[in-house]
Amino acid sequence: MAHRIFVLNGPNLNLLGTREPSVYGAKTLADIEASCHEAAKRLGLAVAFRQSNQEGVLVDWIQEAGRDAAGIVINPGAYTHTSVALRDAIAAGGKPVIEVHLSNIYAREPFRHHSYVSPVAAGVICGLGATGYVLALEALSSMMAA
Ligand code: DQA
Repeated sequence: MAHRIFVLNGPNLNLLGTREPSVYGAKTLADIEASCHEAAKRLGLAVAFRQSNQEGVLVDWIQEAGRDAAGIVINPGAYTHTSVALRDAIAAGGKPVIEVHLSNIYAREPFRHHSYVSPVAAGVICGLGATGYVLALEALSSMMAA
């Protein structure tokens, strides 16, 4: 059976396409979702793609992934820089997590340079735009094959 991967997106990522396109690019979240499904098909993965502006909803989904998924790709948005709750949920889940950011957070404001998620992530991809999501799925796929 195909490994099930949750691709989770945090606050304001529903606005992609119109939100600061010079920073986040012109692709919408629906475009990114389509790329993820295309990559998943090629890699033999089953992707559940979700977005929420609520921290607690993201925590619930991370817990659900701990029970029902083989791994997580997450772009936590601004919660990256604020959320101990997301960090703790990931640590509790025990499934591999790849943290993705469209922009290069290290080339931006200093408050974006710290991530609560990175220390509990298997890997981090940032600054590569929507391609980062596909690379994260490829990374999880090779981790699962190892
Ligand atoms: C982001 C970077 C965060 O700093 C920001 O708050 C976001 C998007 C990115 O994908 O580049 O909402 O996670």
